Amino acid sequence: MDPMSGPNTSYDPVAVAALEPAALEAAVAAAQAAFDGAGTLDALKAARLAHLDKGAVALARREIGALPPTAKAEAGKRVGDAMAAVRTAYEARETALQAEAAERILVQERVDVTMPVARRAVGARHPLELTQERLMDIFVGQGWEVAEGPEVESEWMNFDALNLGKDHPARQMQDTFFVDPPDGGLVLRTQTSPIQIRTMLTRTPPIYVVAPGKVFRTDDLDATHTPVFHQIELLAVDKGLTMAHLRGSIDHFVRAMFGDVRTRVRASYFPFTEPSMETDFECFVCLGGDPLVRSDCRTCGGSGWIELGGSGMVNRKVLTACGIDPDVYTGFAFGFGIERALQLRNGVSDMRDIVEGDVRFSAQFGMAV
Ligand code: DAH
Repeated sequence: MDPMSGPNTSYDPVAVAALEPAALEAAVAAAQAAFDGAGTLDALKAARLAHLDKGAVALARREIGALPPTAKAEAGKRVGDAMAAVRTAYEARETALQAEAAERILVQERVDVTMPVARRAVGARHPLELTQERLMDIFVGQGWEVAEGPEVESEWMNFDALNLGKDHPARQMQDTFFVDPPDGGLVLRTQTSPIQIRTMLTRTPPIYVVAPGKVFRTDDLDATHTPVFHQIELLAVDKGLTMAHLRGSIDHFVRAMFGDVRTRVRASYFPFTEPSMETDFECFVCLGGDPLVRSDCRTCGGSGWIELGGSGMVNRKVLTACGIDPDVYTGFAFGFGIERALQLRNGVSDMRDIVEGDVRFSAQFGMAV
């Protein structure tokens, strides 16, 4: 007899009781109940182990092999259906629990984008400092170096070395803040020109420096005056420098700052320059045009010209005081107020707006940092 078709001697009706339809139905129902009872994905995982991976239906499937060949097909189909029912029940519950978890996360992590928040203003630099930087950049871009000096300055640097003698009116008490004791020889610098002296004493020509800084004068604060203001000083010392170089530097500076306008110079006097001059530039608002339009111009007051500042060729006495031979080197210098540049360029009519530090004023100049 063919051994393959012989009777299955290991067939045991007790062991295969799990294959009975009623037993399978009960197993499917138990699995369904366990899945439905699982409240979380973790609990569902435990139920899956007990009822799908290792449960009664899985055991029954293993027992199919022990059935006589004639019973295998029918039992196999029954177990397969039961398995599919358990899997479907599992998957339905898994989908439901996953949806619940996703919903819970959405609720927990919800952000109300319409809720008002406490806004914190971002800081920005003061327009005066931005103006100072713009002015300096014009010269730094041409290779000039930045120089500095102290705000508490010796009288010698602030006056004597600049050829402002003891009887010069600028030294009088009404202009200068003297540092206690009054005969101690210290002042709050009244101009940035002492930086010229410090530079010439510590550097050797060729010298090309731009020196910004705070200066102090005993003025009351009003629309056009402030006791603390800022200047920029320029000093060039080299062989063969002439008024033409000075004029060219001023022209370039004015065009960079105020646009394509002409300049004119007038003779003037400063103790530390000889010859000295004042420079005016054409009003960049009315462009010095039609006299009728010009007469209403608030920037130049109707003259068509705006005063820039003082300048000149460095006085031989100043070069000598700094140990530089005036027969070998010549120099030029100029200086002007930064507040004034800001007022002119941006139409700020009241000096107090610049000084007082009200953010509503500064904010109009943007948020440059
Ligand atoms: N220091 C002068 C002032 O405060 C301004 C000035 C004039 C500076 C002529 C210069 C210059 O360098 O050459 O009024």
